[in-house]
Amino acid sequence: MGVSLAQRFLSFAEASEASGSPLYAEWARGVASDLELLAVVERAPAAKRQPALVFAATRYLGGPVDAFPVVRAWMLRNAVAIVAELEIRFTQTNDVRRTGPVAAALALAGVDGPVTLLEVGASAGLGLYPDRYDIRVGAARLGDPESRVHVAVDVLPGAQEPALPALPPIAARFGLDLAPLDPRRQGELHWLEMLLPPERTDRVELLRDAVDVLLDDPAPVIAGDAVQELPDLVALAPPGTTPVVVTSGTLVYLPGARRQAFVDLIAGLGVRWVSYERSGLLTGVASTVPVPAPSASDADAFATLALDGTALAVGDAHGTRLRWLPSASPDACRHGGGARPT
Ligand SMILES: C[S@@+](CC[C@H](N)C(=O)[O-])C[C@H]1O[C@@H](n2cnc3c(N)ncnc32)[C@H](O)[C@@H]1O
Repeated sequence: MGVSLAQRFLSFAEASEASGSPLYAEWARGVASDLELLAVVERAPAAKRQPALVFAATRYLGGPVDAFPVVRAWMLRNAVAIVAELEIRFTQTNDVRRTGPVAAALALAGVDGPVTLLEVGASAGLGLYPDRYDIRVGAARLGDPESRVHVAVDVLPGAQEPALPALPPIAARFGLDLAPLDPRRQGELHWLEMLLPPERTDRVELLRDAVDVLLDDPAPVIAGDAVQELPDLVALAPPGTTPVVVTSGTLVYLPGARRQAFVDLIAGLGVRWVSYERSGLLTGVASTVPVPAPSASDADAFATLALDGTALAVGDAHGTRLRWLPSASPDACRHGGGARPT
């Protein structure tokens, strides 16, 4: 029992160390070598036995942000509540920083005229406002330079950095999610915050600033499944706008066959598609996304930025670093579906 689960917590410990959360690293190492706690986590459905989800649920329920022995005692006392919370929760970290790579690909898409942005796996929908954030990608500046929400993407040495045109006007925006989060509802902003590591107060501030932008003009996020509801989502695009579907950090949650169904569906809908997903995830599904060099174990190649299924760049899990691939030239990117008839 618990060997692969323990390994998952150990890997999470390493990732937490690297991403500025020594406390989560300590907790994860603690859980990995604690048979009693591993047995608690194993009582949750298999898909919910994720360290980030377990710790978010613990804190959401009032668990202490303290040294491992303190939190361990609390978790054992509150095991029933933690397992019940895991049953109803999903990993829904809405990472505003991933808007950076997404905005770059949206600019490169070279759409003439207004777009409708449609995010699948939108969580609260914070990825739907690239035009209202101040986004820097290498030397380029996108979005609203006056915005309080600052997103920065460092460009690593690679293929030549493409000149990024301005973002197209975003005329309408809609999200789709299995379990949309609405920061206006009791407890949901708190849950979004609990999905972030406790020490990363910078990320909590970014989240809150982005939520303020969202609350100025909340985009509807529809409840439903990525494959089942995609045609209805696309149909929401007003006439005269080009529908652009965005997926970021989402398709990994679809089982392989559903991922294939999603890609097949998107190809037939005449839309543009920006994806920022785990590298290799779409290989063999969207056949035009190659396995990007140099290797899947390189944290800066964790994710692949693709436009209409063609890889443009690789980057880290959060979208803070990008390495462009030769395919990312504005000329090569200007193709794909067009505006819906007026
Ligand atoms: C890790 S979050 C990513 C959120 C956002 N795209 C971002 O980059 O910040 C993944 C989201 O996908 C949603 N999701 C998972 N499976 C889904 C499905 N089959 N259909 C629709 N949404 C799904 C989850 O509820 C969650 O909100």
